[in-house]
Amino acid sequence: MPSLTAEHVGGRVVIRLNAGVRDGRERLTDVLGELLEISDRSLLIRRDDGTELKIDTEAVVAAKPVPPRPVRYSAIARLERVAAAHWPAPDTAELGDWILRAADGWTYRANTALAAGEPGMPLDDAVAEVEDWYRRRGLIPAFSVPLPSGRRFGAELEERGWTGNSPTHVMTRSLTDWTAPDRPDLPPVTIGQAPNMDFLNMVSARRGSLPQIALSVLTGAPRTGFATLRADGELLAIARGAVGDGWLGLSLVEVAEAARRRGLATYVIDALIAWAGVDQAYLQVESFNEGAIALYERLGFTLHHTYVNYVAPSAS
Ligand SMILES: CC(C)(COP(=O)(O)OP(=O)(O)OC[C@H]1O[C@@H](n2cnc3c(N)ncnc32)[C@H](O)[C@@H]1OP(=O)(O)O)[C@@H](O)C(=O)NCCC(=O)NCCS
Repeated sequence: MPSLTAEHVGGRVVIRLNAGVRDGRERLTDVLGELLEISDRSLLIRRDDGTELKIDTEAVVAAKPVPPRPVRYSAIARLERVAAAHWPAPDTAELGDWILRAADGWTYRANTALAAGEPGMPLDDAVAEVEDWYRRRGLIPAFSVPLPSGRRFGAELEERGWTGNSPTHVMTRSLTDWTAPDRPDLPPVTIGQAPNMDFLNMVSARRGSLPQIALSVLTGAPRTGFATLRADGELLAIARGAVGDGWLGLSLVEVAEAARRRGLATYVIDALIAWAGVDQAYLQVESFNEGAIALYERLGFTLHHTYVNYVAPSAS
């Protein structure tokens, strides 16, 4: 009997099977994929090529869960570009595959050179160009380096004296099996194309006052939804959704301190998912924000990749 239970359904597993006897010897074969169903008699596996295989438990020699399939570097670069378009800097330039972004210094996301892919020139020249581009704008040169694809480049920057901040987690979830929370006790969430005063007040209370340019970053995505939840005259929760390229990007999820752990973040996220009408969602969360990571994991988001922001040494 395999050492898998219903707990493992939805996870990635490897099954060692008895594939019969040939030339007088027992042959074994491995099947790797997602466990879709399990019973006393059989297992249903979806292999990486998408085909499904029903396996008789009597043929199973061993079975165990394995870590999720590593994310391809090309998928990391694609999602990073989507996220860049969802949080668009008004001032950009391309350097090979890299995207240089500036927004008067408002947020790392809009003021770092996104180093996904190759700059198309020797590294020293590319780094010098980036430094020059930012310094001409009065900004501290900074890179956003997706990992693990950019590990080597990150090490090169460190050798040049650049400082890496703590990583940000990029988490994703397919929305095809999303189940809406049942909350008849709550009023509907309001979703507008632009942020209202409630939204802006809650964001600036935590992040400090918003410069003029923030509005153009916040509303510049292909489609934006600014969710606010009010009850009994009080603002309880906000979240921003950006839609483009088939993705919903969630950002600025926040619940009033006194109203936390009542399912309100879950509720506003659900409203944005319904509003977005797309099949996949992602978000970016700082690795030290344990509460938010716990929330997103609880909602079924998993780690896609991370990125680190690197800041130039001040003397260079
Ligand atoms: C993170 C935050 C949005 C969560 O909002 P919330 O309304 O309390 O979340 P929910 O009630 O929908 O949480 C659902 C589940 O997520 C998990 N969760 C949420 N906050 C958690 C925390 N601080 N610690 C551990 N688990 C947490 C729990 O499993 C929770 O279910 P439970 O309360 O039954 O245990 C809120 O704490 C907040 O506004 N933090 C400051 C802003 C912030 O960090 N935003 C995220 C930026 S990426």
